[in-house]
Amino acid sequence: MTKNKIKIKKYILILTMLLLPIICLNFSDIKLKKLNYSNEAIRVIKNNNIENKVINNNYSKTLEIALTSNEFKKDNIDIYLNIKYNNNTNVINQINNLKDIGYNKDEISKIYEKLESNQIDFITNYTYIENLKSYLDYKIFKPENLERYINYKNIENNINLSYKDIILNVNMDLDKAFYDNPNIIKNPDDLLVLVNKYNRLPDNYEAKDLEQIDNRFTVSKMYLNKTAKNAFEEMCSDAKSINLIITAISTYRTKDYQKKLYDKYIETKGIEYAEKYSARPRHSEHETGLAIDVRGGLSSYTLFENTEEYKWIKQNAHTYGFIIRYEKNKESITGYNYESWHLRYVGNEVASYIHKHKITFEEYHAIFLNN
Ligand code: DAL
Ligand code: ZN
Repeated sequence: MTKNKIKIKKYILILTMLLLPIICLNFSDIKLKKLNYSNEAIRVIKNNNIENKVINNNYSKTLEIALTSNEFKKDNIDIYLNIKYNNNTNVINQINNLKDIGYNKDEISKIYEKLESNQIDFITNYTYIENLKSYLDYKIFKPENLERYINYKNIENNINLSYKDIILNVNMDLDKAFYDNPNIIKNPDDLLVLVNKYNRLPDNYEAKDLEQIDNRFTVSKMYLNKTAKNAFEEMCSDAKSINLIITAISTYRTKDYQKKLYDKYIETKGIEYAEKYSARPRHSEHETGLAIDVRGGLSSYTLFENTEEYKWIKQNAHTYGFIIRYEKNKESITGYNYESWHLRYVGNEVASYIHKHKITFEEYHAIFLNN
């Protein structure tokens, strides 16, 4: 090899070594650009020496926003990369806050998967919530109830309740005392309206579509909501065909009548008893025309449980759309002692579900209707 040739080779080698960083630099630039990052973002990526990390992931709009904001934190890059951008200008600040509170990448990811931005703000204003993921994973979780779930779970008797039950109970308002600041019912004319000690009929509400029940099935002139009335007559008629005599003893009640009944209970039996068997006015299903108290044969309604009619009702009422509304051992949910005689119309589908799963109407509401 001539001396000249060696010299040329040497030059090429030196030149290559000098250019190598520039070539490499441009390679990462090209890759980052190809991924769609802006020049400004690329500048920050390089300043922080995180090219490899970014290049090895898909483009993240959240990361782009983080890089071009003043709030970018290098330590949080994995989280930015993991969060789908949600058009919220405050997202970077939010993510940083969640991290500072103590949430890890997976938890933050779940928070963004399940919650709206304003709901996340609520969490960022709170201290670290252990097992937040367990709450978020249940489909009826309500962010606005989060503080109540936590407080309810912390009550000694509830420590062992599952997260599912915590959420269900709080969504039914069981963390509140009966009649404490009740919700005013928004859909009083709905056939699936929930009227109880937590849910009050509007003061000016009057039941619609009332019709008189065939007097073969009542002890006096009585009314029900038309749909409930038709179902009740059909049920009584079918029962009668097998010699079972189901008779309504109390159906639709006005607010004033409900008040009289409730006051009478207090007067004769005392407040404690009254509260277990009678609703305060505007809190009774009877005011909607969807509830019926029945008796079997000629026996008193309080003995309904001992009759053949009761046995038949227990097995068949759901097919006509009725449930026994205040079941045994459900007092803590319904607020009433067992009332074998009080039927509520909810339609065949809902009644069948409630019958099959042995749940209360309150639970049905919390699981399916209260979102
Ligand atoms: N007895 C039921 C609870 C009512 O008064 O509506
Ligand atoms: Zn009743």
